[in-house]
Amino acid sequence: MDRVDIKKAKRFNGEFSPTPDKSISHRAVIFASLSKGKSVIKNFLRAEDPVSTISSFRALGIEIDDKEDDVVVHGKGIYGLTEPDNVIDCGNSGTTMRMLSGVLAGNPFFSVLTGDESLRRRPMARVITPLSGMGADIMARSGNRYPPVAITGKKLKPIEYHMPVASAQVKSAVLLAGLYADGETEIVEPAKSRDHTERMLPAFGAVIDIKGLRVRIKGGTELEGREVCVPGDFSSAAFFIVAALLIRHSDITIKEVGINPTRTGLLDALRRMGAGIELSNIRNLSGEPVAYIHCRGVEELKAIDITKEQVPALIDEFPILCVAAAQASGVTTIRGAEELRVKESDRISSMVAGLRKMGAEIEEFKDGLSIKGKSSLKGALVESYGDHRIAMAMTIAGLVADGTTMVNGVSSVNISFPGFFRIISKLSS
Ligand code: S3P
Repeated sequence: MDRVDIKKAKRFNGEFSPTPDKSISHRAVIFASLSKGKSVIKNFLRAEDPVSTISSFRALGIEIDDKEDDVVVHGKGIYGLTEPDNVIDCGNSGTTMRMLSGVLAGNPFFSVLTGDESLRRRPMARVITPLSGMGADIMARSGNRYPPVAITGKKLKPIEYHMPVASAQVKSAVLLAGLYADGETEIVEPAKSRDHTERMLPAFGAVIDIKGLRVRIKGGTELEGREVCVPGDFSSAAFFIVAALLIRHSDITIKEVGINPTRTGLLDALRRMGAGIELSNIRNLSGEPVAYIHCRGVEELKAIDITKEQVPALIDEFPILCVAAAQASGVTTIRGAEELRVKESDRISSMVAGLRKMGAEIEEFKDGLSIKGKSSLKGALVESYGDHRIAMAMTIAGLVADGTTMVNGVSSVNISFPGFFRIISKLSS
């Protein structure tokens, strides 16, 4: 049955490695597929989303071995893809669909991208607009708004594109399309989104120049295969960081977690709330900073305000931050977060519904919410809405609630974190 029953935990103790980073796993497969020769990806995330990227590139004629520990990609260069003989299914993965759109816009054949019910509700105009501006022949359902997306690759021209929303997927799609354009393509972000593409693509040979919020890529450069080691996913570690803080007598160490500053806004927020979180063994792994993260249960967290500028660096941590806020004294307000309405579910309304059902005092806004803590949460039957991060956040809420919390739709955790419940049982008592 697709439901788990969660009871209050007394303590949360131990050491573990989180699953490999999802964003970096996607990029490693995409860039390796577009490179000439063999690439070896170590510590690849074998979860549904990055596996959708592997199957998409296989459908485009790339040989990818995934039998041993490593994933080995036999790339054929930027023009080495071949026309797929069927529609490409990107599953639940927005990253696969949006980044692939950028690649296919410059490849001279016809392709159609689709996905599951959730992905088919996610906005695609944000990639269609800049890619059309580069000369791509790309269209989508409902007036170019939703998948399926149909693309006939064309010779592209470079653009200077000022992105209306901070989105790493859009930035990456335009950068990848820029590889197929004559000249330099420039993107200007309204706020810094995750920069894994800018860090990894040059390692494969791309020429990228970064100045503040401007990123520029030179077209026509050939890429070459290489080795990539994927760090642990901060977004997966986040659920355990918050659980350890909220459960008294906890003491955990999470090993080899990516601490790229464009991803760790939750650490800054939790520290402002009064949490003492320590980092050690900081080192560089394939161009990304990684560390061990240590945290213990705290007496009390205090409420904070999160503003629009702070949202991109904690975008995927919104659900678990809401759980921390429900347990912090005072009113926590999160604004400027309307992007959350178009994630795997409408994450603002999903969290409002779940935490309210458990007794939290919440006010919902168009662009965020406010939560009055500290609530004594009570077990209830709550929904994941098919969204992996909602399923995991509600599970952590269940660990601090009185009684039993039943979370429906937990198979969605396999999108990013197979083994989530195994680690929960290993650490909790
Ligand atoms: C991702 C970027 C983010 C994030 C998503 C993964 C990526 O979305 O929410 O889970 O791998 O590039 P945006 O494109 O909206 O920044």
